Amino acid sequence: MHRGHLRAATLGLLVSILSVAGCGSGDEATESAESAPGSSGQLLAEAPAQAPQLADTAGSRTATTGARPPGVSATRPRLPGKTDAYKPVVGQAGKDVVWVPTPQPLVDKMLEMASLTRNDIHFDLGSGDGRTVITAAKRGANSTGVEYNPDMVALSKRLAQQEGVGSTAKFVEGDIFKTDFRHATVVTLFLLSDLNLKLRPTLLDMKPGTRVVSNTFTMGEWKPDQTQAVTEKDGCTAYCTAHLWIVPAKVGGKWRLPDGELQLTQTFQELTGTLGASPVQGSLRGDQITFVAGNAQYTGRVNGNTVTGRVTTGSSTRPFTATRIGS
Ligand SMILES: C[S@@+](CC[C@H](N)C(=O)[O-])C[C@H]1O[C@@H](n2cnc3c(N)ncnc32)[C@H](O)[C@@H]1O
Repeated sequence: MHRGHLRAATLGLLVSILSVAGCGSGDEATESAESAPGSSGQLLAEAPAQAPQLADTAGSRTATTGARPPGVSATRPRLPGKTDAYKPVVGQAGKDVVWVPTPQPLVDKMLEMASLTRNDIHFDLGSGDGRTVITAAKRGANSTGVEYNPDMVALSKRLAQQEGVGSTAKFVEGDIFKTDFRHATVVTLFLLSDLNLKLRPTLLDMKPGTRVVSNTFTMGEWKPDQTQAVTEKDGCTAYCTAHLWIVPAKVGGKWRLPDGELQLTQTFQELTGTLGASPVQGSLRGDQITFVAGNAQYTGRVNGNTVTGRVTTGSSTRPFTATRIGS
């Protein structure tokens, strides 16, 4: 992870790129960041090489208390009775990360990677102008955005109304670190890697099979199950890569199989271990487990302390059941 001070000149370029990149439901409400008070070089930045930089707001807080120094606000002042006039600014400060919208082609790609359906419960953590929630709601999902900035929440609700999903797209004004989203089946993020890392234990404790999709930023040693990008041809010029993780079942420990004792060591979705004297290599995709031991290939479904599936050796396939016997 690279972190360094953002230079003002870079920011100017970045902001214009991001302003172009931002498209879809909220763009008509977006001002140029160059005119935004407090949106300049005080920001800290993190981003992969070559990409414009998403910034956190740490540089605008005092190190000891976390409070903002006088004159630096997290959000622009509310206009009483005139929320319709509120125009967010790309790069404006947020609680833990600035607002930069995900380009609409990548929103579409992220929801496609998540295989989002109307049966899903979707949360966008730090929902900005609500574009991901609005898109998910249009696809019939039960979708909620969590956003700290009340003006962005009001804007999201207005945009959802305009887009015909005012009664189904939900927006919660709150802190993503204090909001319970553990019942979600799909989580989308456009945060920084250190914020993803802070969320990672909660995400890993969610139901196996839950899909987590992040715009650009990764999850440390938890490798993505899939990475895809949209291109300039698709209408995306910055922040065009998405990563998908599928929450793996927890299988580390000892299992009894008809073929002997299976000892599994789990590192996120990757498995190593032994079955009797044979070394084991395997992986998880949600609750689906596959592993190879010697010349036998096991595939199955994890359900708590039981795995049921099939084992193939050469040309013969037979069912198997494994039972957890220890951690
Ligand atoms: C980079 S923007 C992404 C917006 C949206 N998810 C998207 O992809 O277009 C991050 C958003 O997170 C919000 N945010 C930052 N810290 C937050 C926190 N602790 N709780 C809730 N929202 C937060 C910011 O206000 C900003 O709107």
